Amino acid sequence: MKFFIDTANLDQIREAKDLGILDGVTTNPSLMAKEGIRGTEAINSHYKTICEIVDGDISAEVLSTTYEEMIKEGEELAAIHPNIVVKIPMIKDGIKALKYFSDKGIKTNCTLIFSAGQALLAAKAGATYVSPFLGRLDDVSTDGISLIEEIRLIFDNYLFDTQILAASIRHSMHIIDCAKVGADVITSPLAPILSLLKHPLTENGLAQFIEDSKKMA
Ligand code: E4P
Repeated sequence: MKFFIDTANLDQIREAKDLGILDGVTTNPSLMAKEGIRGTEAINSHYKTICEIVDGDISAEVLSTTYEEMIKEGEELAAIHPNIVVKIPMIKDGIKALKYFSDKGIKTNCTLIFSAGQALLAAKAGATYVSPFLGRLDDVSTDGISLIEEIRLIFDNYLFDTQILAASIRHSMHIIDCAKVGADVITSPLAPILSLLKHPLTENGLAQFIEDSKKMA
C-alpha cells in the first residue's frame, strides 16, 4: 500500500518524507488556501517546491469546472513537473477531461468520489487514481470503508488499472481498515500516520529495556 500525505504544508511534507515511508502528496484548494497560497504563479511555484521535496506522485487540483478550462489548466499543471497528477472533480466534464488526459499519458486523480458508480465511470475514462472520501461519508453516518470494498470488488472483477486512493482520512483506524480491504493508496494528514507508531506496551517495554541496559554497563 502506498502512503501519500494529504496537505500543502511544506514542514509536514518534509517531516513525512524524512520518515522514509512517503510515496506522494495530495492537495486540494482548501489545503492550498489554508497555507495562504494565492494566484497562479504562487500556486504553480508551491507545486514545484513539493515536487522537489518528494519524488512521487503529487496531485494538483484544477480549479475550473468546464471541459475546455480543465484541459487548459490541467496541461499547465502537468507542465510544472513530470510527477504532477492532475486532480479532476467527479462531474460530467471531468469524465471527459479524464479521458483526454489518459489518452495523452498524463496521470489523473478523480476526486470527490462518493459512490461505486462514480468510481466505475472514472476508471472507464482511464483515471490513474480514484479518491473515495472515507471520512466525509463517515461524517454523514454512511460506511466509507464499505464503499472502498465495493470499488475494490468492481476494479478486481474487470482488472481496471485505476488505483483506489482512499482520501479524507481522519484517524489511524481508517488507515488500518483501508489496508485490510485493499486500498492501493491512503492519503492522510500527518497526525494519523504518526499515531500508527504508538502503543503503550512499546513505550513501557522500551523504557524497561533502557533501564535494564544500565545494568549491563
Ligand atoms: C484528498 O485528495 C482530499 O481532497 C482530502 O483527503 C479531503 O479530506 P477532508 O475530507 O478531510 O477535507
